[in-house]
Amino acid sequence: MKPPKVVFVCQECGAQAPKWAGRCNECGAWNSLVEERAPEPAATGAAAGNRYSQFAQGTSAKLYADVENANAQRLSTGIGEFDRVLGGGIVPGSLVLLGGEPGIGKSTLLLQAAAHFAREFGPVLYASGEESEHQIKSRGARLGIGEAPIYLLSETCIERILEEIARLKPALVIIDSVQTVFSLKFQSAPGSIGQVREAATQFLFAAKGQNIPTVLVGHVTKDGNLAGPKVLEHVVDTVLSFEGERHHSHRVVRAVKNRFGAVSELGVFEMTGAGLRPVANPSKLFLSERATGTPGSAVLCCVEGSRPILVEVQALVSTSTFGNARRMAIGIDQNRLSLLLAVLEKRAGLSLAGDDVYVNIAGGMSIEEPAADLSVVAAVASSVRNRGLAPATAVFGEVGLSGEVRGTPQAALRIREAVQMGFTRLIMPAANVDPADVALSEGGCELVGVRTIGEALDQLIA
Ligand code: TYD
Ligand code: MG
Repeated sequence: MKPPKVVFVCQECGAQAPKWAGRCNECGAWNSLVEERAPEPAATGAAAGNRYSQFAQGTSAKLYADVENANAQRLSTGIGEFDRVLGGGIVPGSLVLLGGEPGIGKSTLLLQAAAHFAREFGPVLYASGEESEHQIKSRGARLGIGEAPIYLLSETCIERILEEIARLKPALVIIDSVQTVFSLKFQSAPGSIGQVREAATQFLFAAKGQNIPTVLVGHVTKDGNLAGPKVLEHVVDTVLSFEGERHHSHRVVRAVKNRFGAVSELGVFEMTGAGLRPVANPSKLFLSERATGTPGSAVLCCVEGSRPILVEVQALVSTSTFGNARRMAIGIDQNRLSLLLAVLEKRAGLSLAGDDVYVNIAGGMSIEEPAADLSVVAAVASSVRNRGLAPATAVFGEVGLSGEVRGTPQAALRIREAVQMGFTRLIMPAANVDPADVALSEGGCELVGVRTIGEALDQLIA
């Protein structure tokens, strides 16, 4: 008998090699090749043997004008914040990947969404490879999910799950999680790249073929990547990332990729004793514990996707007792902090050599946009001088290497949010102050345009 043919598949990038090697030739990852059985070649020609052939029927080119606009229809999950990240609700036949660290609340969110969805649009199939029906039910009881047609399936075999989908014809399918399911066609263990890719492809065909929206749960590795599969991100329509710190009660769902909506859109939740509660006004949440007037605290008006949020940026500068000074950033990029400190030293005459500098975004948010620069500069300067910033004042603006304050996009959004939250002064890039916005701020908010960090600090620290 001929021995089965094997290939070695890199678990990082999915590349295949005929021989084992310590290092993947494609991506250079070490010790990532795992033996898998090569898939059987199709028995006879393309038409007969291809197991995907059933989905390939009846396709002919259509005129652009004749194609219906699929975006018009959205199915609401009943959770406003979740709908927002999805781009307004679930699109029929779409495949969504929800990634996040273990214990962050993925199963909780999806069970809550499933309950709303089931009541509204018909039965939901919740297939879990991680928990038994009893465990899911007891969570449901805790969440106060009443009567809703949710079918629970504790099963990890893809073929079995697909049979149930075909039998029940649910309105929504949830697979918790894609790393626990396996296909009978492969020998490799669940969670290996071959299995995960197969699962995604099979569920993609099921979703598209029967027009059933499907949500896959995916685990995230220690370094924050969706485990195994970059491959997965290409297959699915939407990638959502569930973030938040376990020690804080709030959670953020972010759209990383969305074929049906804007990316970096944000939904904010709070984890309570009875499940996730949508937070309609995140600025209020992030500013709730702020001590006004203390040195080293600035309020930043940032924008995530299309949503403006006010957050508190805190800085603490203290004399270093050890030889080399520490610079620590939580919630913003460490390199960005070093750059801003250098600009402060050189352009604003602040002496920071020999000082420890700590910067933190309160509430566990993390911010990537450069519009945060000015708030970091303001918080650090305020801490150095040990003077609080002017009350009821918010800031935003990018800082350049020569100490200039540069304009940022979506200024009008930021201004509106600051006005709504009762701020009476906004220190912002001069380039962004335009007459239209001044009219907008009639609610009593003074817009102060600044050109350099020197001007900004004069305005902020009296
Ligand atoms: P879970 O949804 O199981 O996380 P994941 O599926 O992402 O692994 O959430 C588990 C955590 O959420 C657990 O630590 C307990 C907490 N939790 C609450 O605080 N309140 C609740 O009502 C529920 C159901 C869970
Ligand atoms: Mg779970």
